[in-house]
Amino acid sequence: MELRVLSNTSPAFVVLFCLLVCMIFPNALPSDSEKDTSAKKTADDDEHDEHDEHENKMNLKFQEKPMRAFTDEDLSVYDGSFEGRPIYLAVKGVVFDVTSGKEFYGKGATYNPLAGKDCTRAVAKMSLDPQDLTADVTGLSKEELDSLDKVFREVYMAKYPVVGHMSFTAVDMDAEPLYRTEL
Ligand code: HEM
Repeated sequence: MELRVLSNTSPAFVVLFCLLVCMIFPNALPSDSEKDTSAKKTADDDEHDEHDEHENKMNLKFQEKPMRAFTDEDLSVYDGSFEGRPIYLAVKGVVFDVTSGKEFYGKGATYNPLAGKDCTRAVAKMSLDPQDLTADVTGLSKEELDSLDKVFREVYMAKYPVVGHMSFTAVDMDAEPLYRTEL
């Protein structure tokens, strides 16, 4: 019965009917720009999937906030001496906000010498000797470098937000691969 109605309907009527529907519901069909957006979304989604996969593989926590590049001098003002200012330190060129570990890094606390510095060498050697409060890892043993990587991942990456990078990490592409941090 319905088939008969359809077959009896003139093509001109069908065209007119479609035009009428398009006039009443102009948003029913996707515009070219909408098509572009949905195509872009798919590409973006792919990029996000890749990003998530990388994030999971590296066990990293990315922040929404933009990253800052720190010089030694920039970092030094976050050493816990100033009440109300966050406490930062860097390990392997990555700057962490360790304010939540104030009992370790705050003024007068045991590990306060590490605060406001790239203390990579000290962490690798488990030393608080002022000579080791540096980013320089020259001459460290494999055990010390392995220990550094473990503390980097299991303490710093696991506990503290990343707020930036030491500016030298961006330019020192000739650094030893063990020292470079892939983010
Ligand atoms: C006799 C010497 C030491 C003892 C008994 C000791 C003990 C400890 C203990 C018990 C913790 C865990 C605290 C907690 O999670 O509640 C800790 C954390 C830590 N220690 Fe030591 N430590 C010593 C020396 C050092 C030295 C020389 C360094 C030099 C870098 C160092 C670096 C650290 C770091 C980076 C942490 C992690 C702090 C954090 O969670 O942010 N320790 N230590």
